[in-house]
Amino acid sequence: MIEQDILTEVEKIARECGEAMLEAGKAGYEVAEKTSKRDLVTSVDNKNQDKIINYLSKKFPEAGFFSEESAGDILPNNELVFVIDPIDGTTNFTKDLKYSCVSIACFKNMQPYVSVVYEPYNDEMFTAILGQGAFCNGERMTISHKPLEESLVVFGTSPYFPEVLDKTVRRLKEIMPECSDVRRMGAAALDLCYIAAGRFGLYFEDEISLWDYAAGALIVREAGGKICQLDGQPLTFGIEKSSILAGTEKNIQEYLIIERRHEK
Ligand code: IPD
Ligand code: CA
Ligand code: CA
Repeated sequence: MIEQDILTEVEKIARECGEAMLEAGKAGYEVAEKTSKRDLVTSVDNKNQDKIINYLSKKFPEAGFFSEESAGDILPNNELVFVIDPIDGTTNFTKDLKYSCVSIACFKNMQPYVSVVYEPYNDEMFTAILGQGAFCNGERMTISHKPLEESLVVFGTSPYFPEVLDKTVRRLKEIMPECSDVRRMGAAALDLCYIAAGRFGLYFEDEISLWDYAAGALIVREAGGKICQLDGQPLTFGIEKSSILAGTEKNIQEYLIIERRHEK
């Protein structure tokens, strides 16, 4: 089965890249700025990306690639496309905060098909295949069904898009009194996996890129959760930036009601 082969190969290279993160954390690496002082890329991001693309293009020569550190303006239109974030949570990585991961999605006909998110610090391999469930280290995951008031809400600050900061802060003020507490962890792909694992009950971020959520989206869905835009509209999985809302159907509906209440 092709999807099983894809999963096996992607897991293998994701683990290798995760191990490289652990080693580089001890041995050292280079850091450079991208668009601003807060937008960083390390030599490990670049090396991971090269390793992933080299490995997967040999295994799946018919596939296209869309990866953060080399992404152009076009999403390839091959039947299979790998969407890659070679390190999600680069800022955490540079501060030795152990909450970063390697995120690789395989799209088939422009929709998520196989996903792998590997977090090397706790050795957690999150995986999903379309229609076959979501797993962490081989154990099936199911999202939490706790109500919003008993849930932790995790959010992202869209650090590279300061123009959405006011919106994010407003959402935070609205949701805080309605939930158990909020968290800002710093790696969107992992935040989504933690939703799938039932650790968080809701996730939102005003503006993120396809490589940030491509793999996590399928993992959330396959664990029984929902993922959409912040206004409740479906995700497009296109190249344009997107807002994200993920959690249980019930928590999402509750969040949308809170939003509407505050819009009045
Ligand atoms: C970032 C992280 C962060 C999120 C940003 C992402 P990067 O990815 O996922 O949590 O808030 O929106 O861009 O730059 O570390 O790969
Ligand atoms: Ca990212
Ligand atoms: Ca990244």
